[in-house]
Amino acid sequence: MCGIVGYLGYRDAYPVLTDGLKQLEYRGYDSAGVALSDDRGNLRVYKEKGKVADLENYAADKDKSGHLGIAHTRWATHGEPCARNAHPHVSASGRFAIVHNGIIENYPVLRTNLEAKGYVFQSSTDTEALVQLIDYIAAQTASDTVSVLQTALKMVVGAYAVALIDRNSPDRLYAARKSSPLAVGIGESEFFIASDMNPISCYTDKVVYLEDGEIAEMSCAGGLRIVNLDNAECSHEIHKVPKNLGMVQKGGFEHFMLKEIFEQPDCIRDCMRGRVNPGDKTVTLSSVREFRDRLLSAGRFIIVACGTSWHAGLIGKQLLESLCRIPAEVVYASEFRYSNPVIHDTDVVVAISQSGETADTLAAIELAKQKGAFIYGICNAVGSSIPRITDAGSYIHAGPEIGVASTKAFTGQVAVLVMLALDLAREKGTIDDICYARTVEALDSIPDKMKSVLKENGRIASLAKIFTYARNFIYLGRGYSYPVALEGALKLKEISYIHAEGYPAAEMKHGPIALIDDEMPVVIIAAGNALYDKILNNVQEIKARKGRVIAIVTEGDDVISKIADTVIEIPQTEECLTPLLSVIPLQMLAYHIAVCKGKDVDRPRNLAKSVTVE
Ligand code: AGP
Ligand code: GLU
Repeated sequence: MCGIVGYLGYRDAYPVLTDGLKQLEYRGYDSAGVALSDDRGNLRVYKEKGKVADLENYAADKDKSGHLGIAHTRWATHGEPCARNAHPHVSASGRFAIVHNGIIENYPVLRTNLEAKGYVFQSSTDTEALVQLIDYIAAQTASDTVSVLQTALKMVVGAYAVALIDRNSPDRLYAARKSSPLAVGIGESEFFIASDMNPISCYTDKVVYLEDGEIAEMSCAGGLRIVNLDNAECSHEIHKVPKNLGMVQKGGFEHFMLKEIFEQPDCIRDCMRGRVNPGDKTVTLSSVREFRDRLLSAGRFIIVACGTSWHAGLIGKQLLESLCRIPAEVVYASEFRYSNPVIHDTDVVVAISQSGETADTLAAIELAKQKGAFIYGICNAVGSSIPRITDAGSYIHAGPEIGVASTKAFTGQVAVLVMLALDLAREKGTIDDICYARTVEALDSIPDKMKSVLKENGRIASLAKIFTYARNFIYLGRGYSYPVALEGALKLKEISYIHAEGYPAAEMKHGPIALIDDEMPVVIIAAGNALYDKILNNVQEIKARKGRVIAIVTEGDDVISKIADTVIEIPQTEECLTPLLSVIPLQMLAYHIAVCKGKDVDRPRNLAKSVTVE
């Protein structure tokens, strides 16, 4: 997700735009750019890889005049981060400039059709297909800009928040949205647009939020006009919002980590966009289509990753083995790279990494490539090192993860692994139609169910106060919940500095149970139906030794809920999808304990967001 800003009014646009971008850099910082239009309709575009400061350095000695402009700070989804792929994108005729937040899913077919009409594309982005389409329609129809936008946007499949300037209308600013957020600020003889309120609240407290399918046309003479794609006028409520909103980059949250925990429903929706089709209940990953034979002929999957990504890999192993009946093993990348592993050229190595820059994972990939394995990457950061060296892959589209403790990347990785396993199982015929359709339908309902779990935040914040002084925690789970236990323990220890360990629940009997006493909190993930009776036995073993049990259970549970000391419910879902829900209370518990302990939640001691060294 990136940040877009637009301005039309009496001020010099450039400083309004760059100050606005700086407040949106939390949304992405791969590259930044501005397009400025002066009153004579001259269009100047400056864009640079990196942060807004890099753009400012680049544009320092250039003509930055103009009272109309649009700007963008990018989180790449299609086309690696570089100046060529940076927004704004300018149409072939030089008439239009656009900035875009979202994904144009059908850009390949749009691009092919436009290239067949002689259009030469300058970038690898999906966005450029839209601005060239607008250019083409304008040239073919000679319609007004709003009509051209309406025609073009009706041809687009995907999500967008766009700002557009048209050299033929140097006194107007255009905006449109579908799924991606966009706010319009109304000042005294000036207009602002931005991905969120922050860049606007410095100048005005009057805001209109565009709805899906709406187009806004702004002019200082004519005011604000909002129409839908069928040109029907749309009424719009002007909201009063406090000026100079605080915590600009955290969207009102105290820490990035909490913001990112709460972003998970939207991130999973974005991750599934264009991949999960609830209509015909199918899952389609483009890399599975492209490399179908190589993936289906895999003799074995080897999953390599570190930390939280390794925990996601453990879930991936169970998914691939249970749904696809393909052997899968999960290896710490740091161990894999030095263990002289046996690798066959029929192996598929799945490399999971949020940053795409983790040194151990990169080294593991290089080793596997030397031995002829096929490499499939699952990353968040588009254009990072790992996606550039893998044979295929799927991005999780979670947007920038700023908090060092990974949260939304974990659930995004699990969601991609679920889709990969479902798509492959479907192709291999190892999943029956009913189970497949039921799981796809359940996956599509996960974002809403995540929202339901997030409502427990206040109660978990209160619960956390009880455990602020705990010196040790144990997390237990079985099957799909065992990796979640490991992840919950990692979250707690890395931000609260409390010692925490995750174990398979049945493993307690083989030693760790000696640790149980009335001062030892035990978090047990009992959600889902598989092995429930076994988990019940484990809870009773702990209670018999006065352990304090915090149980994550499925809504309606009436057995373990009666003997646990604290119960957190999550909605029912398919067994293989429970990690997407059961991990959220553990993320919130770790967060609130760390806050109670006054720790630096977003930047814990000794840690880095991306471990680019051994
Ligand atoms: C997770 O909370 C940690 N910050 C850390 O374990 C992280 O998952 C690990 O360093 C791997 O990073 P990657 O996903 O970017 O490769
Ligand atoms: N899909 C567009 C690109 O990759 C916009 C990405 C975004 O919303 O950050 O350039």
